[in-house]
Amino acid sequence: MANQHVVIVTNLKAELQEYLSALKYDKLFILTDTNTREKCYPLLKDIPLIQQGEVISIEAGDTGKDITQLSAIWRVLSEKGASRHSLLINLGGGMVTDMGGFAGATFKRGIPTINIPTTLMASVDAAVGGKTGINFNGLKNEIGAFYPPVCVFIDCMFLRTLDRDNLLSGYAEMLKHALLSSPEDYASVIAFDPGGAVDYARLHRMVAQSVAIKERIVEEDPRELGIRKALNLGHTIGHAMESLSFKRGHPLLHGHAVAAGIVCELYLSYKQCGFPADKLTQVAYYIKEQYPPFFFDCSEYDALYELMTHDKKNESGIINFTLLADTGKVRINQSVDKALIFESLDFYRESFGI
Ligand code: GLY
Repeated sequence: MANQHVVIVTNLKAELQEYLSALKYDKLFILTDTNTREKCYPLLKDIPLIQQGEVISIEAGDTGKDITQLSAIWRVLSEKGASRHSLLINLGGGMVTDMGGFAGATFKRGIPTINIPTTLMASVDAAVGGKTGINFNGLKNEIGAFYPPVCVFIDCMFLRTLDRDNLLSGYAEMLKHALLSSPEDYASVIAFDPGGAVDYARLHRMVAQSVAIKERIVEEDPRELGIRKALNLGHTIGHAMESLSFKRGHPLLHGHAVAAGIVCELYLSYKQCGFPADKLTQVAYYIKEQYPPFFFDCSEYDALYELMTHDKKNESGIINFTLLADTGKVRINQSVDKALIFESLDFYRESFGI
């Protein structure tokens, strides 16, 4: 899999114009959703080469990351004469970069794509690392491909327009990267207050560090055969909570579910791999202070467990966790007793006083 090129920029217009001028392509397409069409595209539209592009706009929201909208993208590409030498820019959050990436991976067996993430979640996670896909048959990212964009441009100017909930959602992935990386990265992320008056210059530097952590892991294992599984920390239980919230009709933001999953999975790490108790307490307290609680009681433990058994990362029916022995000390492919998983759900509820 070819390496992607990730650039953190402070002047997106100038850098994008320069990059596009040096690139060979016959036609340019820009994929937006209804939100980024209105709020983000106008920030780029006076770039001369962008003005020559064809804008494709799809409905915003993860529920629209489906075959119907994907086929609408394919149709525009086809009807407007896109060739294998055309370029598709995905301007948006994770839904746009995932689905646009997959449209790029599949149209005429693959056309080059560029991601310009506009949310924190997409900047530090979805737009980086080459995972693309759509939801199918009620399952998230059920159909997809590893297909890295030729370049990812990350400009934190977009983050200034995000509301607190969306900023916190992306920040959970930054906390995850820091826990996977080192005591120093962890100390810097846990000392930052994304829910208060945000220091954007500092956040910008931290985004660059967070992306570099993810890039290092993806470079080592682009197809998730081994160490890339580390990036699932917090996601096994987090995804189960996200699915439960979806079934209830009140979907959690992905990163809020991941934050709750991190609390549970660090508890498992403490019990099973010797993760330090003081760091567990510190992370649980931090998440309780920053994130809204996810309410559930013990009558729902079995339902959550059942959802965990459907996790894509499981092998031979065994729930597959990524745990930590300490910050930076990753243990992949961990199986955990059901009783201990239930104990971790108790720990979450006790930490939040639920
Ligand atoms: N979002 C996890 C990964 O890219 O592997």
